Amino acid sequence: MPCSGAKRTRYIILSVSVVICVFIFSRPSVQRLLFGACACGQCVSDIAHDTWFQKRYDPYAQPLLTKKNCILSNALYWWWQKLQYKSRVNYNAVTEMLFGIFPNEEDYSDAGPGRCRTCAVVGNSGNLKGSHYGALIDAHDLVIRINKGPTEGFERDVGSKTSHRIIYPESAVDMDNSTHLVLIPFKTVDLQWLISVFTTKHIDRTYVPVKPSIKANRDKVMILHPGFLKYIQERWLQKHGRYPSTGFITLIFALHICDQVSVFGFGADENGNWHHYFEQNKHHHNTGNHGGSYEYSIALKLHEKKRIHLYKGW
Ligand code: C5P
Repeated sequence: MPCSGAKRTRYIILSVSVVICVFIFSRPSVQRLLFGACACGQCVSDIAHDTWFQKRYDPYAQPLLTKKNCILSNALYWWWQKLQYKSRVNYNAVTEMLFGIFPNEEDYSDAGPGRCRTCAVVGNSGNLKGSHYGALIDAHDLVIRINKGPTEGFERDVGSKTSHRIIYPESAVDMDNSTHLVLIPFKTVDLQWLISVFTTKHIDRTYVPVKPSIKANRDKVMILHPGFLKYIQERWLQKHGRYPSTGFITLIFALHICDQVSVFGFGADENGNWHHYFEQNKHHHNTGNHGGSYEYSIALKLHEKKRIHLYKGW
């Protein structure tokens, strides 16, 4: 009997050890340590040996708003409310409706040692004109475009594939059925607008007239988390500019959902203006509320550090 007692103890110790090992080795952080952050030669989220990057990149930052993370702290809520125009919208009621209409999943949770996802972030800079980057852009797994940036008629320079389009109400355009609409909620009414676009279509104005309806696939809608905007403004931009530009938000979004990131169509013209590849008149857009030159300096630094590849165009 004492012998069978010792056997039982050994069995219990073994079982507990197996459970502990399975638990430890299934942790993403441990897998990352043992096998690397992804299956590409170099992975964007590999923060080892780079204190500049470590200071800015938070591997736990959550890019997307979900049912689970939609409750905001007071500090975050008020930071967000002050970002653009105050709207008398009940945030809790809006989020309640939001996840009855749109998907409520973290679409990027498959990151890990076995994955090598390449992404092209395509800004709207006039430096894309004559660049012949189209085929190179389309060769990426994901192609993330921004605001109104068109492809039709510009395929040779900007490609034709669009897996994601990042917009806000005032910059919205039609997109095809396979494209993820990614909303940046700069203000609460933007969430209401998104709901309205796919239901009643009654919101046709925020602080300016907006499209009450656009073509897009409701099952592919994603919404950025207000906390992700705050993280970018504070950690990446060290509060330069009032808030980050759509392009810079997209670039940091890509650092969090991709394993390798190529960046196209960033860079002002010789006068510091944000000219567009799809417009003839290139002198009308200053960088507004955004710290345009600081944002570009961060993109250059990321390129220098081989975190991204920045294609500078012509
Ligand atoms: O002009 P728009 O905001 O639609 O452009 C999308 C993004 O592309 C900007 O937010 C900015 O980050 C980037 N851009 C740029 N240089 C330009 C034009 C746009 O870096 N000349």
